[in-house]
Amino acid sequence: MTIPVVTVDGPSGTGKGTLSLHLAQSLGWHFLDSGALYRVLALHASRAGVALTDEAGVTALALRLPVSFAAGDGEPRVLLELEDVTAAIRTEEGGAAASVVAALPAVREALLARQRAFRQAPGLVADGRDMGTVVFPDAAFKLFLTASPEARAERRYKQLKGKGIDVNLAALLEDIRRRDQRDEQRAVAPLQPAPDAEILDTTNLGIPEVEDRVRRLLQLRGIG
Ligand code: C5P
Repeated sequence: MTIPVVTVDGPSGTGKGTLSLHLAQSLGWHFLDSGALYRVLALHASRAGVALTDEAGVTALALRLPVSFAAGDGEPRVLLELEDVTAAIRTEEGGAAASVVAALPAVREALLARQRAFRQAPGLVADGRDMGTVVFPDAAFKLFLTASPEARAERRYKQLKGKGIDVNLAALLEDIRRRDQRDEQRAVAPLQPAPDAEILDTTNLGIPEVEDRVRRLLQLRGIG
């Protein structure tokens, strides 16, 4: 029997990360944060002095990316070699740098096998942009979350303020629009829902409401 996968795709700020992690925890399944791989790769390349647009250079690093994940109290910790880089990769710059390396076709190819290796019994919840379209096209359930850029910028603003980081809402909105444009217009694996994905607009929904709806959708398919 094939190991079931639930894919959760969509742009950042839609509640995708929190939803995927909670789903994985409640189902007792493995969790793949594919965005973290692109973020760590961008950090690794910058530190190695490799330009983010150097496709051959970044691909060589991707093939031997010394990344691992460790369970933490809440969100999993992301390790680059033995260093905990969770906070370092979760910055706005980290997201922007990730979307530059993520636009390189050979880099995406180099990370495919590593992502598929997360598919282990009893199941996997995979969070990203192309989980349902490219990485796990045979997933048991595909979800695509959307929300208006304004709602997403507002959520990010509150999240950063909560961490004591001073940010400008207009600049965040601008960053979100720029990153969406790069993710939607790239030649390989552009950000778009799989034809068989369930699309959920979270603009006016809180996290508990999103989770309730998704759990009901999963139950209808006999998952969870
Ligand atoms: O999800 P997260 O914000 O961590 O992703 C950072 C960036 O990595 C995205 O803007 C996107 O460019 C890239 N990404 C991707 N494919 C994925 C996950 C992330 O291209 N499956």
